[in-house]
Amino acid sequence: MTAQPQKAPFGTLLTSHMAAASYHDGHWSATDIVPVAPIELSPAAHVLHYASTCFEGFKAFRRADGSVHIFRMDRHIERMRQSARLLVLPEPDPAQLADMVRAVIARCREAVPEAPGALYLRPILYGTTANIGAAATPATDASLLVLASPVWDYFAGGMKPLRILVDDEHTRCAERMGRVKTGGNYAAAMGPTLAARATYHADQVLFCPGGEVQETGAANFLLLRKGEMLTRSLDSSFLHGVTRDSLITLARDDGYAVSERIFDVAEMLEWAKTGEAALSGTAAVLAGVGTLIHRGTDYRVGSGDVGPLTRAMRARLVAIQQGEAPDRHGWLEAV
Ligand code: COI
Repeated sequence: MTAQPQKAPFGTLLTSHMAAASYHDGHWSATDIVPVAPIELSPAAHVLHYASTCFEGFKAFRRADGSVHIFRMDRHIERMRQSARLLVLPEPDPAQLADMVRAVIARCREAVPEAPGALYLRPILYGTTANIGAAATPATDASLLVLASPVWDYFAGGMKPLRILVDDEHTRCAERMGRVKTGGNYAAAMGPTLAARATYHADQVLFCPGGEVQETGAANFLLLRKGEMLTRSLDSSFLHGVTRDSLITLARDDGYAVSERIFDVAEMLEWAKTGEAALSGTAAVLAGVGTLIHRGTDYRVGSGDVGPLTRAMRARLVAIQQGEAPDRHGWLEAV
């Protein structure tokens, strides 16, 4: 890919090359940089039957001077290693995986879009052992790929306020799997999300099992009002977002009182009368919620538009990512 494509839908474009390594006999192979092409996989591969797979998502940003900077790659690699451990997959070697990412960027540097675009990095790990009986036996062979995709907004419509269906019955996924970034968790949220779209024109479902606010199908959830941020405290039920962590850090830097604790739907709806709500994630960045739909009723969040605190917080994070504000926490690596 040479030309800079303009604003393709998120994730639909790939760079010309990817990085690949495989695990066999207890060790990782050397990395290959290969053209993006269909992969060879046994129809008996562990991943196809027992969903032994996890992935990551993070971004690299091009600055006006042509330099390219990766945002918090170390945290994403650590999270991928944790996902691999919890799925009993071979853990990627952190130094090798970081080099795979750097090598893809070096090979496809011209594909890193200018701001406000970014290059989305997508490492994926999957079990390749051919054994359809291995339901209770981990994959001993695995593949690790690093894909890259030029991206712009995740939610079509940019800063359009989101409509979110509040589901106070179901979990997003099996409770202890929430912090694992694995396709099965997204598959579990797919049916409810499509149903919410068809019935309520909702963009996402906010899962609140037993009335406790958890997260949406593809992003973390947080509440904002002047000088205050509230989000669920970390536990195994939801993904420990790196964007969530970055926003909490910036909010604290700015003197916000940040509460990380369990809260319920009633408290959220009360907060929504005057405050703001937003989804956070690498893809979503910080996307404002305009409406919460609960048990058939629409509840407007603040003015119903993306709130000023959400806009300011998003701009603050993006300014650091794009090199327009100082990187005081050492989150960027130049490549
Ligand atoms: C991300 O924010 O990186 C994600 O993995 C969400 C994905 C559904 C695009």
